Amino acid sequence: MPNELDIINKAEITHCLTKQEIVVLLTSHEYDQHLFMAADRVRSKFVGDQVHLRGLIEFSNICQQNCYYCGLRKDNVHVKRYHLQPETIIEFARKAKGYGYQTVVLQSGESHAYTVSDMQYIISNIKSLDLAITLSVGEKSKAEYRAYKDAGADRYLLRIETTDRKVYEALHPGMSFENRVRCLTDLKELGYEVGTGCLVGLPNQTMESLADDILFFKALDADMIGLGPFIPNADTPLAQEKGGSFILSLKVMAITRLLLPDANIPATTAMETLNKEGRMIALKSGANVVMPNVTEGEYREMYTLYPGKICINDTPAHCRGCITGKISGIGRQVSTEYGFRLRK
Ligand code: 5AD
Ligand code: SF4
Ligand code: FES
Repeated sequence: MPNELDIINKAEITHCLTKQEIVVLLTSHEYDQHLFMAADRVRSKFVGDQVHLRGLIEFSNICQQNCYYCGLRKDNVHVKRYHLQPETIIEFARKAKGYGYQTVVLQSGESHAYTVSDMQYIISNIKSLDLAITLSVGEKSKAEYRAYKDAGADRYLLRIETTDRKVYEALHPGMSFENRVRCLTDLKELGYEVGTGCLVGLPNQTMESLADDILFFKALDADMIGLGPFIPNADTPLAQEKGGSFILSLKVMAITRLLLPDANIPATTAMETLNKEGRMIALKSGANVVMPNVTEGEYREMYTLYPGKICINDTPAHCRGCITGKISGIGRQVSTEYGFRLRK
């Protein structure tokens, strides 16, 4: 049997691979369909056919960081900055609940636009709507993470972006890899469900570093892993770069599913930007979560991490109907649960 099939079988049965084995899978192409089918079987066996929806509220695009790849970076003067009032954020969450979402994800750039007590107010009010709350607001102190947790936050998303230190330092001026890992460790210790993930196709990123990223998710025992291609943004220093491919992103995701069989893995928006069936293909290759946008009005368009973002002119009601239809179309069902990780 070819080596690749041996490796895929081993991963499907033991959920463990060496770095070298992951590199073999990432580098070869012939057995990609086998890889995707194995990831789909593991997904079905461990997390079932239900797809968890998370309503994404992009509540502020103000950011103090300068990540080279991101359109919201501080030095990008082409972005019109906004931050929603606490009452507006709570209202968007109430509407999301009305559309049947059981979880909202509160995402923003990293900034001091909201005080800790503003955040506590927002979190506790949304919590009282009987919604699970995921935060995605960047690097904070442990005390701040604790305050959010005490206010009712359940989960936290903070992608490591890349575990390749050289690549990390080159793309994140003024930030440190150590502090990012410190944040993830603190969040785990505080009892959050922790999500991380990486960008695929960053300049100077190698197959070896992608293999390290996957092993990092496993070592952290991440509860959620968000993966997507890097898509060059014209308003950033990486405007001229090539960007990541859809297939390679899908492979990193599929291998991640094989190694973390019970994790929650979204079919990301960035995947759909590169392939118009991207999210459904991802759901059939290991993913079990979708994060439709529930931000209203003009703000979607102003939250431009990368170009070609989907749904910028659609309403939350439209996206909700659209995604439900697509999910039924592939023979899966929208979950009515909160969608916490169930360890198996
Ligand atoms: N292409 C793809 N994803 C991006 N992100 C930021 N900029 C880009 C880009 N140009 C991702 C980062 C971040 C998440 C919120 O968006 O991985 O963690
Ligand atoms: Fe800010 Fe996040 Fe974009 Fe970095 S990736 S510039 S922290 S919004
Ligand atoms: Fe927004 Fe399909 S999910 S239009």
